[in-house]
Parts: sequence; structure tokens; C-alpha cells
Amino acid sequence: MRPTINVVAAALLLPLGAAQNTTSSTNTTTSTSEAILSSGEVSLGDWADAYAKAAALVAQLTNEEKITIITGGSVSSVNWTALEFKDGTQSVQGMAVYGSTSRTSLTETGYDYVTGFAESSALAMTWDKTLMYDQLKAVALEFYGKGFQVTNGPTSQPLGRTPWGGRLVETLGQDPYLNGIGFGIGAKAFSDAGIVAGGKHFLLNEQETNRQASGSDSDLAPYSSVADDKTMHETYLWSFYDGVKGGMGAVMCAMTKVNGTLSCENEDLLQGLLKTELGFPGLVFPDVGGQTNAFESANGGLDYGSSTYWTNATLQAGIDNGTFTQARLDDMAVRNVIGYFKVGLDNGTQPEYVGSDAYVDVRGNHSTIVRTNGAASLVLLKNTNNALPLSKPKSMALFGSHAGPVMAGPNYYFSVQGSGPTYEGHLAGGSGSGQTSFPYLITPQQALTTKASLDGTMIRWILNNTYTSSTDSGSGGFGGMTGNTTSGTAPSGNGTAPSLSKRAGGAAIAGLSGGTSLTQDIPDYATGAEVCMVFINALSGEGADRTELRNTDQDDLVSTVAENCNNTIVVVNTVGARLLDAWIENDNITAVVYGGLVGQESGNSLADVLYGDVNPSGRLPHTIAKNESDYNVEICETAVCNFTEGNYIDYRYFDKYNVTPRYEFGYGLSYTTFDYSDLTVNITNSTALASTYPTGGLAVGGKTDLWDEVISASVTVANNGTVDGNEVSQLYVEYPTAADQPVRQLRGFERTLISSGSSATVTFSVRRRDVSFWDVAAQEWAIASGNYVFSVGASSRDLRVSQTVTVGT
Ligand SMILES: *[C@@H]1O[C@H](CO)[C@@H](O)[C@H](O)[C@H]1NC(C)=O
Ligand SMILES: *[C@@H]1O[C@H](CO)[C@@H](O)[C@H](O)[C@H]1NC(C)=O
Ligand SMILES: *[C@@H]1O[C@H](CO)[C@@H](O)[C@H](O)[C@H]1NC(C)=O
Ligand SMILES: *[C@@H]1O[C@H](CO)[C@@H](O)[C@H](O)[C@H]1NC(C)=O
Ligand SMILES: *[C@@H]1O[C@H](CO)[C@@H](O)[C@H](O)[C@H]1NC(C)=O
Ligand SMILES: *[C@@H]1O[C@H](CO)[C@@H](O)[C@H](O)[C@H]1NC(C)=O
Ligand SMILES: *[C@@H]1O[C@H](CO)[C@@H](O)[C@H](O)[C@H]1NC(C)=O
Ligand SMILES: *[C@@H]1O[C@H](CO)[C@@H](O)[C@H](O)[C@H]1NC(C)=O
Ligand SMILES: *[C@@H]1O[C@H](CO)[C@@H](O)[C@H](O)[C@H]1NC(C)=O
Ligand SMILES: *[C@@H]1O[C@H](CO)[C@@H](O)[C@H](O)[C@H]1NC(C)=O
Ligand SMILES: *[C@@H]1O[C@H](CO)[C@@H](O)[C@H](O)[C@H]1NC(C)=O
Ligand SMILES: *[C@@H]1O[C@H](CO)[C@@H](O)[C@H](O)[C@H]1NC(C)=O
Repeated sequence: MRPTINVVAAALLLPLGAAQNTTSSTNTTTSTSEAILSSGEVSLGDWADAYAKAAALVAQLTNEEKITIITGGSVSSVNWTALEFKDGTQSVQGMAVYGSTSRTSLTETGYDYVTGFAESSALAMTWDKTLMYDQLKAVALEFYGKGFQVTNGPTSQPLGRTPWGGRLVETLGQDPYLNGIGFGIGAKAFSDAGIVAGGKHFLLNEQETNRQASGSDSDLAPYSSVADDKTMHETYLWSFYDGVKGGMGAVMCAMTKVNGTLSCENEDLLQGLLKTELGFPGLVFPDVGGQTNAFESANGGLDYGSSTYWTNATLQAGIDNGTFTQARLDDMAVRNVIGYFKVGLDNGTQPEYVGSDAYVDVRGNHSTIVRTNGAASLVLLKNTNNALPLSKPKSMALFGSHAGPVMAGPNYYFSVQGSGPTYEGHLAGGSGSGQTSFPYLITPQQALTTKASLDGTMIRWILNNTYTSSTDSGSGGFGGMTGNTTSGTAPSGNGTAPSLSKRAGGAAIAGLSGGTSLTQDIPDYATGAEVCMVFINALSGEGADRTELRNTDQDDLVSTVAENCNNTIVVVNTVGARLLDAWIENDNITAVVYGGLVGQESGNSLADVLYGDVNPSGRLPHTIAKNESDYNVEICETAVCNFTEGNYIDYRYFDKYNVTPRYEFGYGLSYTTFDYSDLTVNITNSTALASTYPTGGLAVGGKTDLWDEVISASVTVANNGTVDGNEVSQLYVEYPTAADQPVRQLRGFERTLISSGSSATVTFSVRRRDVSFWDVAAQEWAIASGNYVFSVGASSRDLRVSQTVTVGT
């Protein structure tokens, strides 16, 4: 049973039992008063009703019952059932269960009858707020239908301080603004579906190496991140503002340390930044091993923790001797239940919690979202000689293990302590907490074979990155044949011998005409095909960082095909930035399609783009460098990780230091072309801009006026090509020097469908926060006086129109 408490009924019950009056509790001496919800210093806005219900429920509890709730227990006297937590923003993930089950018992490997959605990093490549909302709401509805109340997601961070970070597949891109928009949308979508969004990881948990004290990482673990206050706000805390504003009811603090203190026991981080500055009203819960101490965690701001530390006796003794406070305990209990009421989980309609193999099908028509979003996320990086879209090619050859299924799938087992660097099969989901529960998986080979069967295309494949004819010479094992081919007899059974004609340099096909060796090989297949498709991937995930940003076997495969085929199309699916310079300038490589891990419809999404059923519009959420050394931040190998680069990660670094990328942040081609004209930028709230600092009160999401529009920009975008298409228009802002900001920063994006020959007016609403910098001395977001340059274009380095606006004197 879930509590069906309402405020009036609860108030009537207050005199009964050992009720505590939360609003009359004394202020804690160890925490800022704002971090206690009952202090009233954070205006709760649309959380007020939920707060009233939560406070009323808690008011009926004894301290032991409150402790039961904050340690994940149920209290039958008020019908409170422990919340069920679950990983997965890409599907209901099976690796870990909080709540009644210990998270460390990894007994499940996947949920059944759920959808395998695109990873968040792929979703970010759509640059489409509606698609983000649609997918994340569908994800949350599946959690709801399985009886979960809290997701360990969405994931904002690791943000991507370094491209070698192992876990970027789970995040919403490497730009704080893009990431923040997606994170806020995720928090809202989850809440709208009746699920408490548990955003993670808070904060500066930017790499896997030396992450986990309890694991085998190293005696340097967990590492301690140190970022100055300006960087903290402008790069890392930024997206959590959006998450809190979007309705996030829970936050997962990281395993790692900030300034030498564990994140889950760090008062500056949790009570200060999160609960006070951002006005976060929900509960903070720990990543594995994040809690090590009773009072440092409780006073530091952790609200949900282990009964090993938070025993009745210990916490009560702490209250009695002043180490801990009644107000803080009450606040913890309120924060544990407030999100439940906020998202309406008390309305009595949620289905019962079910285990991973129950036949409870929650998928609805979500596969259409997966296919649509997958196609919308794919980024066309190169397209010459009209290679794409394909039009009934006569012959096609597929190369690489990533084109087809892994031998046993689709729910392959990935270790949480490191996977990769590549995957020998089609990769459409991540690992660790980013692991997908696939009900099925459409591979490119399957989707392209279906197309071929309809188009009359002859299709063949070599689903191996390193196959050479000599490898298997004379021993069969190729094309399904198993006989002794040197004997001159046909293999047993009819096999599936490819009916290929002889290629340049090739010999007769063994087993078919008494030949003596197998010579079909990658060059041979490449020579004979009108279209050569090479499939490559990059894999990493929770528990280990990336060891490479390119892969020799795969790059050799691409080069070998390209040497023999003047129409080589490369498809990349990757967890993060993947370097392409080994072959990108080869003229025989006519097209490159680059994407994240896009879920169960991967092959169909790809085919939609390759054949032009969908005009590609995906954009890079990170910079693809020419060389590894072009990136400025590597994996930190010491106990203290100093973020000395400050705000200068990804394109902010490339722009400041004039490093030319291979493909810049925001880049992506279309099958049509767009013109930009008539940019107009208007100050819409000059009164607000006249004030250096925000004047609004503290509310959920920070000072209220940080969210107010102050400037509006609009631009005309014309599709002057021959096909309809979506254009992702991007607004970048250059601040006055006094603000000490990167060269330019993304501050708006809109994906707009524009038909061939038509134009559209695209409008960007710029909020006060979008033109503010963090004033360390004032400890406020501030507006610098001076000239702001607003530019709109198709990428961070393809700015088409710009206008300067003067703010202040
Ligand atoms: C709680 O305490 C406040 C402040 O002392 C008081 O106004 C309020 O009536 C009390 N509420 C209950 C239910 O006792
Ligand atoms: C808590 O502290 C705040 C700020 O100092 C004050 O306004 C409020 O009245 C205090 N609340 C209680 C219950 O003492
Ligand atoms: C708890 O649920 C039961 C069964 O629905 C109900 O009879 C009881 O009144 C509820 N108790 C409270 C305190 O809400
Ligand atoms: C209860 O909440 C869920 C999730 O928001 C919603 O779908 C459902 O319609 C609500 N039920 C009622 C009776 O309001
Ligand atoms: C961590 O320390 C740095 C350097 O001393 C300081 O600038 C920053 O504000 C501190 N951050 C937190 C969250 O305390
Ligand atoms: C606290 O006491 C309650 C009631 O006796 C008990 O059910 C619960 O398990 C205890 N919690 C802890 C963390 O010891
Ligand atoms: C208060 O009690 C707690 C729990 O027993 C204990 O850990 C702590 O040292 C005590 N503090 C003081 C100041 O006595
Ligand atoms: C690919 O081919 C190589 C060389 O024949 C072989 O060692 C490897 O096992 C094959 N990989 C797969 C996934 O079949
Ligand atoms: C294949 O057949 C030849 C000729 O009969 C024989 O010498 C050789 O040992 C056979 N090889 C294998 C692997 O069976
Ligand atoms: C092999 O193919 C031939 C011709 O299609 C057929 O007659 C024969 O039955 C097949 N043999 C086997 C073992 O499938
Ligand atoms: C391009 O492909 C053709 C075969 O179509 C080959 O002759 C040529 O050498 C290739 N060029 C490169 C640069 O690999
Ligand atoms: C690619 O090679 C094919 C076959 O050799 C040839 O017909 C075609 O013209 C070549 N295309 C280009 C762009 O060189």
C-alpha cells in the first residue's frame, strides 16, 4: 500500500503519536537554515502542496519511524512503502535495485518487456526539445508501469571534462547549456509521468579511474576533484539548475570527493550549493559507497542512506548531545517523501512493483519513438559525390562486426568494471548503469537486407573487422562452410557459399568448383560493390575510462575497403568523441554517418537516413579533434584532480586556443541547404538588465528572475535545396570582456522542419542566466555591462548572422 494521506486528514492525526512539529523545530547549527525546507526561506512554489502532505505525514512519525524511512524502510502505520529506485534513462535497467534490495547484489541483468531506447548522449544529438521530452516521458512511463517510484537518472554528469571519460554515453552532451536543457526536460518529463527524477551525479565526478574506494580501483580512490568557484558554477553546477527547476525530486551524490570531502558528506556541495543556492527541495541519495559516516553524511546533506550508519541509537544520541538536530532529521524525512507527493504517486493508480521477468508489457508504441529519435540523432559528417541518400544501388557490401548481430544477444553482458574499447557486434546500448534491456535489436545488416530485397540490390557482407583470406585459407570457416576445402570435395551440407563472381586477384571459390583456397576477402568484396558500407563502433562505460579515441583494426578496415572501393560509406556508433583522421580525407570515402548508441531500432533508424526517408539533422554534442593531443584534458591519475582548465573544455578550449577541430561542436550536414538572414536581437526586459544581480526571491531552481527572458532573438532560415529538412539553428553569445567568458557559448537552439523552397522564423528566448556570469566576490550571477555579440548559424564555427547588443552603460 502507498499512503493516500491528505493534508486535512493528516492534520487531524497530528495530536496522536509522537508527532514532531517540523515548523517549530530549532534551526540546525551545522547546516544553513535555507537547506531546511521548513525554514520557509526557499519559496516552494508548485512544491507547496507536496510539502504540506509530506510534512503532515512526517508529523505522524516517531523518530524511529523517520529513521526507518530515511534508511529505505516502510512504515505501516502511515502506509508508507519503501520507494523502489532503478537505474536507466535508456530503458528500465536490470543491473541494480535500491530500496528493499541491496544495490550491490547485481542479481539481474535486464528487464523484460521494456523498450531499449537511445542512450542520452544519442538523444542529445537530436538537439530537439520535443523529441527529448517524448523519449524521456516514454522511458518514465515504463518505470511507472513496472512499479518504480524513483529513477537513478536522468544523467547530466560526467559532463565530459575529458573525452576519455568512460561514462559519457550516459550524458546529454558536453556543453552545459545543451546538457542543461536536456536535463531540465528530463526532470519535467519524468515528473509528468509520475516518476521522481533522481538526477546524477553530483558533482565533479568526471572520470571512472580511481572512482571507487570500495572497488579495486586503487589506493588513490576515490579521487578528489577541485574546481574553482567560477568553473563550478559556469560549467558543472549549471545544468543542475535546470534539473531542479524542471522538477527533479531526487539527486544522486557521487562516489567521489570534492575538495577532499566525499560528495555525499559534503556540506558545501549539498546543503550549500544544491539545497540553498538552487533551492532543491527533494532527497539526496548516495551512489555506491558514497556514505561512510553517520553524522558527516546526515549533516552534510545526505537524506537517504544506510541503516548501517543511521541506526536509531546513533541518530537519537546525536540529537541528544547536539551532534545532529531534530530539525535536520525531520527535514530528511520530509525530503524522502515530498517527491512522491509532488509527482502524484499518492493518487492510487500506480501498478504494483514487479520483478524483472514479470510479463508486464509497458512498451506501448514506444518503438516508433526509438526509430524516430534514432534517425533524428544521426549526424551526417561528410557527403560527397551525392553518395547519400542511396537510391536502389545495384550492389552493396557491408564490412565490420558492428554491421550485424553479436553471436549471443541482444542482451549481452557487460562488466561494470570496464568494457570496450570496441564491440564485436552491433552496438546500440551502453554498459554499467547505461546498459539497455533490449526486447529485440534491429541490426544494420537486417535493415539493409530488407531494403535490398525490395530494391533488387545484391547485398553481401563480411561481419568481421580483421578477416583476411589467408587467415582461413584452406580451412573453411568462411561464409558458413565447414568442410575440408583442400580436399576438393564440397563442404558437408549445401552451406551458404556466396555466389560471387571472381574479383581482381581472387581465385576460384573453394568448395564450389574444386578450388584449393579461399580468397574472398575484404578487398575482393569491396572491389565488386557499387556501395561499400563500413561499420565501426567505440564502447566504454561505467567503471573504466576509455583507452583510445580511435581503433587501429577498425581504421585499417576502413582504409582497406576504401583502397578498393571509390564509394565507401562509413557508419560510426560511439559512446563519445571518436577520431576519424586515419581516413577522413580519403576521397574514396564519400560519406560518414556518425551517431551515438541509438537503441533497439538502430538498423531501421540508420536505413531511414541512408535512403533519405529521413533527412539527417543530428548535430555533434562534442568536438571531434584531429588528434588525441588536440584535447586538453586527459584522465587524472592522481588522488587530487585539479580542474585547472577551468571552463575551457570541448569547444570552449578549441576556440580559445585556436585549435582547429576536424568537426566542431554543433556540426552536421543535411541533404538540403539552408540560408540564414534577418537576425534581430531585442532586449525584452531592460529593467531587469539594468540590475547587475538578480532581484528575485530564492525559489526552487534558484533566484526566480534568473529564468526570466531578458532578450529575444529571431532569424529567418530558408531551405533553398530540393528536399524538406530539419535545421538545427544555434545561437551563440560572446560576452563583454569583463565577464571573463569563453570566446562564444551556446545559448539557444531550435530544430525546425522547413520544406524545400520555404523559410521559417526561428526565435530564441534568452534568459537572464544565459547572459550572466558567476561573480565570485558577490556570490551571485551577474550581468556585465558592455557589448554582447549574438550569432546564429549551423554550428559553433559556421555562424551566418550576428548582431551586437549593448547592455548597461
Ligand atoms: C507548529 O509550530 C508552529 C510554530 O510554533 C505553530 O504555529 C503551529 O501551530 C504548529 N503546528 C502544529 C500542527 O502543532
Ligand atoms: C531559522 O533561521 C531562519 C534564518 O535565521 C529564521 O528566519 C527562522 O525563523 C528560524 N526558524 C526557527 C524555527 O528558528
Ligand atoms: C492505510 O491503509 C489502510 C488500507 O487501505 C486503511 O484502512 C488505513 O486507514 C490507512 N491508514 C492510514 C493512516 O492512512
Ligand atoms: C495518477 O498519476 C498518474 C501519473 O501522473 C496519471 O497518469 C494518472 O492519470 C493519475 N490518476 C489519477 C486518478 O489522477
Ligand atoms: C573547493 O575549493 C576551491 C579552491 O579552494 C574553491 O574555490 C571552491 O569554492 C571549493 N568548492 C566547494 C564546493 O567548496
Ligand atoms: C528503528 O526502529 C524501528 C522501530 O523499532 C525499527 O523498525 C527499525 O528497523 C530501526 N531502524 C534502524 C535503522 O535501526
Ligand atoms: C554524540 O553522540 C554520537 C553518537 O553516539 C557520538 O558519535 C558523538 O561522538 C557524540 N558527540 C558528543 C559531542 O558527545
Ligand atoms: C574475425 O576474424 C579473425 C581472423 O579470422 C578471427 O580471429 C576473429 O575471431 C573473428 N572475429 C569474430 C567476431 O568472428
Ligand atoms: C583435408 O584433406 C586433406 C586431403 O584429404 C588432408 O590431407 C588434410 O589433413 C585434411 N585437413 C583437415 C584439417 O582435415
Ligand atoms: C542441396 O541442394 C540441392 C539442389 O538445390 C538439393 O537437391 C539437395 O537436397 C540439397 N542438399 C542438402 C543436404 O540440403
Ligand atoms: C579509390 O578506389 C579505386 C577503386 O575504385 C582505387 O583504384 C583507388 O586507388 C582508390 N583510391 C584511394 C586513395 O584509395
Ligand atoms: C568508381 O568506380 C566505378 C567502378 O570502377 C566507376 O564506374 C565510377 O565512375 C567511379 N566513380 C568515381 C567517382 O570515380
